[in-house]
Amino acid sequence: MSSEQLPLKLTVNGEEYRVQVEARRTLADTLRENCGLTGTHLGCEQGVCGACTILMDGEPVRSCLMFAVQAETSDIETVEGLAGDDGELHQLQEAFSAHHALQCGFCTPGFLMLARGILDRQPDIDDDELREALSSNLCRCTGYQTIIEAVRSVRDQL
Ligand code: FES
Ligand code: FES
Repeated sequence: MSSEQLPLKLTVNGEEYRVQVEARRTLADTLRENCGLTGTHLGCEQGVCGACTILMDGEPVRSCLMFAVQAETSDIETVEGLAGDDGELHQLQEAFSAHHALQCGFCTPGFLMLARGILDRQPDIDDDELREALSSNLCRCTGYQTIIEAVRSVRDQL
């Protein structure tokens, strides 16, 4: 397989990153290793766990299933972009903390980005739909209920 490096410009959290990657390099690896944005986690690396969830043009996607070269024309958002420039936490981050919606925290960046995408798209999502939408990501620690409560609390403030 060719290991030719391709020049690529990615827009992540409003900033431009110029990287050189092989065509087969995943977006998740590129974000973590080329851009230094290690908040995006890798669990299964096969599209099952959702730990690598980011927003691409506002839609939650699994970055382990995408090639970086597919993302060149998109606006990418990762967990590093959630907090404000002054370090103030996003309301989802505050809610996860307040509702104890994390233990080891491995799944948390993926859940935060998934929740952000869900609420941006459907701020009036009902409880059943929210539960169903959040079920696409896996958490081994919390039992999910606190995650659901955290996201629900933010929805209720919108
Ligand atoms: Fe991407 Fe699990 S690491 S879905
Ligand atoms: Fe540990 Fe979710 S908090 S996997």
